[in-house]
Order: sequence, then structure tokens, then C-alpha cells
Amino acid sequence: MSDLLPLYDSTAADTVLDHDAREAVIDRLLAARTTLGNDASGSPEPGAFEPLDTDFVNWPARLLEDEAELSRIERVGAEFRERADEIVLLGIGGSSMGPRALFSALCDPYHNERPREARRNAPRIYFEGDNLDNNFLVALLDRLAHTTDQRWRLLVTSKSGNTIETAIALRVFLAALEARLGDAVEVAESLAVMTGADSPLRDQAVALGCSNIFTLPEKIGGRFSVMTSVGLLPAAILGLDIRALLAGAAEMTRVFGEADPGDNPPLDHAATSITAEEHHGMNVRVLSVWSKALEPLGLWHDQLLAESLGKDGRGATPLTAVNTRDLHSRGQQHQDGRRDKLITNLMIDEPRNIPLVIPPRPDDTDELNRLAGRTLHEVLDAAIRGTNLAYAEDARPTADIHLPRLGEFTMGALLQMLMLAITLEGYATGINPFGQPGVEAYKRHMHNELGR
Ligand code: PA5
Repeated sequence: MSDLLPLYDSTAADTVLDHDAREAVIDRLLAARTTLGNDASGSPEPGAFEPLDTDFVNWPARLLEDEAELSRIERVGAEFRERADEIVLLGIGGSSMGPRALFSALCDPYHNERPREARRNAPRIYFEGDNLDNNFLVALLDRLAHTTDQRWRLLVTSKSGNTIETAIALRVFLAALEARLGDAVEVAESLAVMTGADSPLRDQAVALGCSNIFTLPEKIGGRFSVMTSVGLLPAAILGLDIRALLAGAAEMTRVFGEADPGDNPPLDHAATSITAEEHHGMNVRVLSVWSKALEPLGLWHDQLLAESLGKDGRGATPLTAVNTRDLHSRGQQHQDGRRDKLITNLMIDEPRNIPLVIPPRPDDTDELNRLAGRTLHEVLDAAIRGTNLAYAEDARPTADIHLPRLGEFTMGALLQMLMLAITLEGYATGINPFGQPGVEAYKRHMHNELGR
């Protein structure tokens, strides 16, 4: 299976970044890895971070051993897949972005537009409760009201159970569900809830008679929760192999704990990132994804980096670019603007579908017959290599993350790699990657504005 792991290659960045500085960073990262390992195994050292939400590290391996919980997720997933034609997933931030990344990376790009048999017999999926946008809520309610089958169901994820965007959306969709079904038992059956052990959402779900309640682990924060029921239940509903997702993540944790620098993707990625920022002042991190399917993964990563390390006036700024699209927008600045960026490419080595071949034309007015017979993937490959060469010529550092192909095992490993890299960076730089105290300020003011 290890040939399905993401590979990290910083050869190009290494020609630009200071070698001695990187070696010194690696020493700090090795010490940080030991501390993180101790914290994650339940033996924190004095002065450990508070909060200390390290359970995500060993969670995939642990859940793979918990047959009862895994089969429960699969059973509820299969039931929702069979009995619903639409799923509305309510959640925001860490309670939404992980499942969204999995959906986009692993399902057909036109999943919701396809007939049922062409989407693994899975329901369509819609993401809401992640905004206060009246038009989108109204449009989705209208869409659901006009489906012929009327078999839509609701997933609600909120660890705290009191996030206002999600809670308002729940009221709205619950009212629609109740109006449609008119029967409390059916409403309860049409609902699954993922929440903390002690949350008002749990009380609400219990009061509704819902038995599909999944308790989120106390020591795993929202943006680190994609390998819990938060990501796994939607994935199971979509017909994805959740055991392979977990296996990939568990394997990445193993590699992280055992491998030397140079063969350790989370540690190597953190080493390049810290060196670029501390030694070269490059405090913008561009995750340049070379597939449209990975844009939501990029947004998930933006959140992970921003909420974990953007604290106390510190932390790099994340930015997702989708290429080749953004070569025609941000590309100018990345090639020619401030030297404040580290670019990490995320590319898929093997396309999932049959490679499209460029057809010849008798007229050749566009002069593309020189490319006739070549595949789109070959052209993309040339674009990646060409862009990297252009950056290298101007001493702009790039690193590559290679995904052998886009499947559950590799995605699980990639998500875990990025969570480990960012956590390790926090440990090595003295920033607590857990918690998000800065998010409270807007909530306080908003509640005041609303008169509470
Ligand atoms: O990473 C985090 O903890 C946050 O992004 C949360 O996931 C987000 O604020 C949603 O919180 P909750 O799940 O409590 O509704």
C-alpha cells in the first residue's frame, strides 16, 4: 500500500532555500515530533499546550480496531444511501470542509447531476449551514420541495452544538422535514447528528427521538476531525471506502513517527515551510492544486493552516490556487510579485478517467495539429514542469506533493499528512495549533448586535 502514499519532493525549493537553516529546523522538528508523540500517547510533558487536542494523531489506527463503531457508521451510511435521494449536510468550518473535500476529490465531478446508478447508487449531497446567505437557503429549500421523490434527509455536524449558522439552518430544514413528513418517528429516522458529548444539539436530537447520534471525540478539534464520523459518515453515504481512508491516514501516522527526514512527508513539508518563513521571510503559503477536484481540499487546508497557526500576531497566510486556471490570474503575481511566497504543488500522477486524446483537424487553423494524438494529461504535465521551471529560473521556491492517484487510501494519507505537518510546525515554533480563540470576537459582537 505504501506506493499509494503521497510523496513530498523539495528538490527545487532546496536550491533556493538556505541549507544550514533547513538542517537546524529539522533538528527542532525532530524534538517537536518526540513531544507531539508523547502528548498524543497520553503522556504530556509539563508545560504542554492547553488545549491539547492531539487525539487525531492515533485516531485512524484506533478506529480501525473499533469494529463496533466502524460498522455502525457503515450501517447508518448504507441506510441513508438506500433510503435518501438527497442529503443536506449542515455544518461550518471543520464540521463541513473535510466532508466537502472528500466529496469533491473522490466522487464524480457531476455527481449531483447524474442519475442514481451513475453515482454509485448514492444520494445527491448539498452543503448548507455554512453561511447566512438567504438566497442559497431559499434556493435549496425550493429545490428539495420540487424533487419528485421527496426522499431527502438531514446530517447535522456541530461539535459545540451552538454554532449559530448551523443551528439556524437546522431550524429551517427541520421545519421543512416536519412539514413534509408530518410524523415524528419518520423525522427522527431522517436525521443523523454528529456532536460533542455535552452539547445542546445532542439534547435537541435526543428530544426529537433521533437514534443516529455520533459522539465526537473530546480531544479532536473540528478542523482535525475529518477521520471521525464528521467525514466518515458522509463518505459512507456516498459509497466511499471508509476503511481505506482510515488505513491511508494510519499509514501516514506510522511513517511520520518512524521515518527519517527526507522520507517523512509531514516533517519534510514542515521543514521547507518553516525555513522559507523564518529564514527568507516567505510568509505566504500557496497550495497550488493541479486538479479542479482538489479545490475544496485546498480550502480545507486554508482553514487548517489559518486557524491552527494564525495566532498572537504570527502564522503564515494560506492561499489555494487551482491550476492551470489561476496561472491566468494569480500567476502573474506568483511569478513576478513580492518574494514572500512558498509554492507547494499538489498533483495527481495518474488521471482517474481514460485520458482524453487531442483530435486532429483537417483545417488546422488553430495550429494545434502538432499536439494531435497527445493526451490532455501530457499537456498538463508540460504545464506543471514549465511553471516549475519558470519559478526556478527566478529563484522562486517550489515543492511538490505527488499523489500517485486519487483514491480513498491516498486521500486519507494526504489529509493526515497535512494535519501532522501543521501540528508539528506549531510544536516547533511555539504556536499552539489547537483551539481558535480569535474566532470568538466576531461571535461576541454579533450576539450583542442581535440583542443578547
Ligand atoms: O476547527 C474548528 O474547531 C472550527 O472550525 C469548528 O469546526 C467550527 O467553528 C464549527 O464548530 P462546531 O462544530 O462546534 O459547530
